[in-house]
Amino acid sequence: MDHFAMSKRRSIIEIPSLNAIDRTAHVGRQLAQALRSAIASGELRPGERLPSTRTLSATLKIARGTVVEVFDQLTAEGYLEAQVGAGTRVAAALRDTPPARPSERAAPAIEETIDLPSPAARLMAIARALTPHPPVPFAVAVPASGIAPDDNWRRLGNRMRASKQAAPSGYHDPMGLPELRVAIADHVRRARAVHCAPEQVIVTSGTQQGLYMAGRVLLSRDDPVWAEDPAYPGLTAVLDDLGVRTCRVPVDAQGMNVERGLELCRQARAAFVTPSHQYPIGMPLSMARRNALIAWADQNRAWIVEDDYDSELRYAGHPFPSMQGLRPSRVIYLGTFSKVLFPSLRLGYVIAPLPLAEAFAGARAILDRHSPMAEQHVLAAHMKEGYFEAHIRRIRGLYAERRAILLSALERALPEGCSVEPSDQGMHILLWLPEGTDDVQLAARALTAGIAVRAISPMYAGQPARPGLMLGFGGFLPEQLQAAVGELVRLLRLCETADKRTNATVKE
Ligand SMILES: Cc1ncc(COP(=O)(O)O)c(C=O)c1O
Repeated sequence: MDHFAMSKRRSIIEIPSLNAIDRTAHVGRQLAQALRSAIASGELRPGERLPSTRTLSATLKIARGTVVEVFDQLTAEGYLEAQVGAGTRVAAALRDTPPARPSERAAPAIEETIDLPSPAARLMAIARALTPHPPVPFAVAVPASGIAPDDNWRRLGNRMRASKQAAPSGYHDPMGLPELRVAIADHVRRARAVHCAPEQVIVTSGTQQGLYMAGRVLLSRDDPVWAEDPAYPGLTAVLDDLGVRTCRVPVDAQGMNVERGLELCRQARAAFVTPSHQYPIGMPLSMARRNALIAWADQNRAWIVEDDYDSELRYAGHPFPSMQGLRPSRVIYLGTFSKVLFPSLRLGYVIAPLPLAEAFAGARAILDRHSPMAEQHVLAAHMKEGYFEAHIRRIRGLYAERRAILLSALERALPEGCSVEPSDQGMHILLWLPEGTDDVQLAARALTAGIAVRAISPMYAGQPARPGLMLGFGGFLPEQLQAAVGELVRLLRLCETADKRTNATVKE
């Protein structure tokens, strides 16, 4: 078909969308959209000549400059082509690949328009599993308000903003701000008996990123790896995403059962552990197990990834020193400021054996290059000027009080069959529920009633999952904690009654 002949049959001025331009809104954008649609729908055909900008401007009563701009834009987008002496035509190349027609019906849901690739489906499930709780009792990650960030933090922030240090600049070292790396090395040496030099410190956006980086640096696809059972969902999500073969090693009263790990998968390449405060249950890894884990790592040239997420918050006795201090060449130590300061800060650190430090910097660089410099400056000053130590002492006292209030409120009100797991550390306690309780359903009901608790059973993989709930206390006032215990106990009793009724029906 001869397009030039076609174009003689009617003028493009007759195209309705061109005549429907609203002169009170952005005229150029409307003209461009009208021309794109006309080309996509076939009203304007490939090769068809457009009127001159002068004619179009006069007919549509649009400034000529606007028409020229629209023609230039659509030429750049490939809809039109201009030839010297031959005017402007609809691009002939569109004959082979016509532009997609915009949908005439209401925009369909995104799931209808694309087949979800398998990583997308997996990542959607992770997004749902890791959705943070609202800041209501007993959300675990909520810091005490008025304390973190406190006045000192704000003052340091203002000082940094006023100084050149936090001025806009180019990219920086993925390892982090040198002053902050020095301050972190000092802190972990003193507080956790970590053996390290500042060159081994890589600043991260938190332990979640540290876990991912450790996986990238240490593991290849299909490598066997140990993780605790039960384990932190943020870790199991990382291991799934890396495509490694995760062997879940059961936890008992002494922490990860290393002997069982040896039976299950001696040749694992790495073990991910929470030795100070097993997540979610709370016991420390015993000294005998620490030694066994290190002996295994030495023999197998395997790595230990130590997630030391909350050991600054210890309320009684002395914590075990870090495992890193026992074998600095085999342990990757992960620390975070999320518990001692606040999670939205998004700063943490990896302490890597020196030969691996640069590889961690590479892993960081391909993720997001580095953490924002202004926050790193504020934190470095906070640590260097002694505010950090004082802050830890203050919140340790405050969290100890809140923890005691929660424990005594629970002790007074708990229904039979419930018990609290003893632990002296962190921002949460673990409440075991009677055998057979559906902790997931209970957590969902609690959320509707304005209480945020995490169910434990989904954190198990192999051994029979025990129902339980994690209750955070750090961010809530005594009266909030007491009221929430009352509400939680009411829900527990409702559960109990429902269970009894179901049992009675089954017996009948
Ligand atoms: C065991 C454990 N590891 C890692 C993290 C992640 O911490 P971050 O906020 O530093 O990413 C958390 C957070 O609660 C945690 O409980």
